[in-house]
Amino acid sequence: MGAAVKAAVEGSDAFIAAEVDARVAEGEKNAYQSFSKVEGKYDCIIDFSHPSVTDSMLDYALKTKTPVVLCTTGLSNEQLERVKAVGKEIPVFFSANMSLGVNLIVALCKKATELLGDDFDIEIIEKHHNQKVDAPSGTAIMLADAINEAADGKYEYVYERQSVRKKREKKELGIHSIRGGNIVGEHEVIFAGHDECVSIKHSATSKEVFAVGAVNAARFVSAQGAGLYSMADMLK
Ligand SMILES: NC(=O)c1ccc[n+]([C@@H]2O[C@H](COP(=O)([O-])OP(=O)(O)OC[C@H]3O[C@@H](n4cnc5c(N)ncnc54)[C@H](O)[C@@H]3O)[C@@H](O)[C@H]2O)c1
Repeated sequence: MGAAVKAAVEGSDAFIAAEVDARVAEGEKNAYQSFSKVEGKYDCIIDFSHPSVTDSMLDYALKTKTPVVLCTTGLSNEQLERVKAVGKEIPVFFSANMSLGVNLIVALCKKATELLGDDFDIEIIEKHHNQKVDAPSGTAIMLADAINEAADGKYEYVYERQSVRKKREKKELGIHSIRGGNIVGEHEVIFAGHDECVSIKHSATSKEVFAVGAVNAARFVSAQGAGLYSMADMLK
């Protein structure tokens, strides 16, 4: 995603002032292996990395009052709580999916849950490339949370069924992960009723869509005061 963000700012008024990545060479100009080594002050941080980076990134952002666009997924519950707390001090934009289309299907799934949720069973299938380390995807959890919010929290998430032999219960919301090849990201939410099925699906065909969304979010969040922002705030 770092390369996609670099490509997304090319030719615009924005530029990448510095890079933080464990893979950069020691001493490389404007490049740091960790946030503890970063020098200087910047307009905004765009973070597509790994949960092991999140705490030091937030420490740096707090210390330097730098707005953050946090795109990394797979954060622990403690880290999610810290993100909320940091959002009280500085502007933080946080979304498990930076594409417009996914944020549209979040809204559609909420609506479908309100209309169909009592009678239809809901299952989510997500597909990603074979290099992805977290499962289910942050986006699948974001969709499940939106559905659960629309249903007053009645659902229990079920991630695997092979270990139990029992019929599906109404309160279950199944989340299934597929990993293979170079699939950029697919999310399908199935509303299965009696004699009919409704399917709401999004496919990303390149990483560019997330990079462009992150750069737009950086412009947006840099102009805000302290707070925790999401795609919904940017689209208002
Ligand atoms: N919010 C979104 O729309 C969205 C879209 C795509 C990916 N993501 C998430 O962004 C993250 C990165 O995705 P990716 O496909 O670029 O992964 P990647 O593995 O290709 O890149 C991760 C980068 O982080 C660096 N890194 C990892 N651990 C580090 C550490 N401890 N210190 C310094 N650098 C470290 C790696 O060297 C690498 O350059 C993942 O969590 C992914 O799920 C979010």
